[in-house]
Amino acid sequence: MLIRKPGKISESEVTPYELYLNRRRFIGRAGRIALLGAIAPSSLAAGDLVPGEAEAATLGPQEDELTPYEDVTTYNNFYEFGTGKADPARNAGTLKPKPWTVEIGGHCERPGDYGIEDIIGRFPAEERIYRLRCVEAWSMVIPWMGFPLKDLLEFVQPTSRAEYVEFTTLYDPDQMPGQRRRVLDWPYVEGLRMDEAMNPLTLMATGLYGKELPNQNGAPLRLVVPWKYGFKSIKSIVRIRLVEDIPATSWNLATPNEYGFFANVNPEVDHPRWSQARERRLGEIRRRPTLMFNGYAEEVASMYDGMDLRRWY
Ligand code: MTE
Repeated sequence: MLIRKPGKISESEVTPYELYLNRRRFIGRAGRIALLGAIAPSSLAAGDLVPGEAEAATLGPQEDELTPYEDVTTYNNFYEFGTGKADPARNAGTLKPKPWTVEIGGHCERPGDYGIEDIIGRFPAEERIYRLRCVEAWSMVIPWMGFPLKDLLEFVQPTSRAEYVEFTTLYDPDQMPGQRRRVLDWPYVEGLRMDEAMNPLTLMATGLYGKELPNQNGAPLRLVVPWKYGFKSIKSIVRIRLVEDIPATSWNLATPNEYGFFANVNPEVDHPRWSQARERRLGEIRRRPTLMFNGYAEEVASMYDGMDLRRWY
């Protein structure tokens, strides 16, 4: 697969990039940036962070350089807008992320239709810097804005019958013209086991680089599961259901021998058609070794204790 050569960074990218590099000095590992919740994303600046408070809060790869905004928003997978990497940025203007309603149902005490504004208002955004690694061997480091899926699930109160969470993307070929072609079974669906969904690393993203999520990145609400291959990170979600049985997932339906339900980043388990041992960071030429669970083993490995990860790929 061809990877775009690193482009010249334009003036407009320099500011957020520098800003985030500065802010990252204050960000340690694991937890929440309580302080950020109180501040509107657009008003954030490096000076807003009080080191003592923010240090308690952290996630994500400290040593990694952020992928420029331009690359994160122009090199995408979003088959509802075409199968080429440049297609989503070009075509996703037809998506209307406002107004937007998310139907939450299944085995929970507070099912209902929740407006996106209510969701965003109820769960204030935090910043988290995560790697996203896509199966086709490219990766990015993205400062996401969002809230832990756990907070939303705790709000709707899953019952004891809820074993999995099922997610569904919008189905509307007028807004998503790629759905007129049967490249996948539409709408796009994904799922997580309950413990994965409740892991503090699992994010409902509403923005990146301190800005609202661009359509091509899954506006207005997408999942980000940083220790799994990118296809688990379903975009433009309209339905979340708490279910008893393991949900169907789009790529597993399409090619079950290539894409499993778990899809944990694992350099030791190859894709049937290629090695998964190395990856190319977007904008770099060299290929770097892929880390087990994408570098988040400490936070997530125990969920898979005793599981044969070759079988449960
Ligand atoms: N969600 C929907 N609805 N449709 C898609 O085609 N592609 C997935 C995932 N979420 C996809 C999706 C894949 S294969 C990847 S690698 C990531 O989105 C890419 O996210 P990004 O474009 O923001 O980097």
